[in-house]
Amino acid sequence: MTQLDEITIGLYRINTAMGGGFSFNQFLILDEKNTLVHTGSAPQFSSILEKLSEVINPSDLSYIFVSHFESDECGALGEFLKLNPAITVLASAVTARQLSGFGMPAKVETVKPGESLSLGQRELRFISYPSEMHLWEGVLAYESKDKVLFSSDLFVVRGSEGGPIHKIGAAEALTINPRSIPADEARQKCEDEIKALDISLVAVGHGPVLDLTP
Ligand SMILES: [Fe+2]
Ligand SMILES: [Fe+2]
Repeated sequence: MTQLDEITIGLYRINTAMGGGFSFNQFLILDEKNTLVHTGSAPQFSSILEKLSEVINPSDLSYIFVSHFESDECGALGEFLKLNPAITVLASAVTARQLSGFGMPAKVETVKPGESLSLGQRELRFISYPSEMHLWEGVLAYESKDKVLFSSDLFVVRGSEGGPIHKIGAAEALTINPRSIPADEARQKCEDEIKALDISLVAVGHGPVLDLTP
């Protein structure tokens, strides 16, 4: 089942529950440049599109942010591009190479850790993310107006009984499980960088959004 929740003004979560407490999220940021964070997989496309269309017309999407190359993060990209070929994909150089290698006809704007991009009222800042499958460099995004970290597959949360938002302490929330980044040095670097941010909400790729506000 796919559901839509407004997390904060102009930020929506589309969530598809898979059973067993596991779920997939996409996030929609409304701004001058409407941005979708991840596409979901191709089989989920029609239900994701239905929920997205309750908020905006897909032809009004400017960006799709892809943190790393995997089916739940970008598997439905081709479907979105069929509806709106003008969409620009924001991704790391490694992800851009994968998209090109798989013949994806996407206009990709390569983003690097440390760079920022204005969406209008909001701005995304990109953070290095050593992601599966070979700890290739992906990117996370931090939105500084509402202090939202789009954390992709870091901090996977199971269960959705408590609703779309879970309150949790920052220290507990922002500790990276070694299974997420098995290389000690890379994990510590990523965690240090994340803990240095002023974060109110963690928009995780799987599970309820984490609310770190006291
Ligand atoms: Fe992933
Ligand atoms: Fe994921």
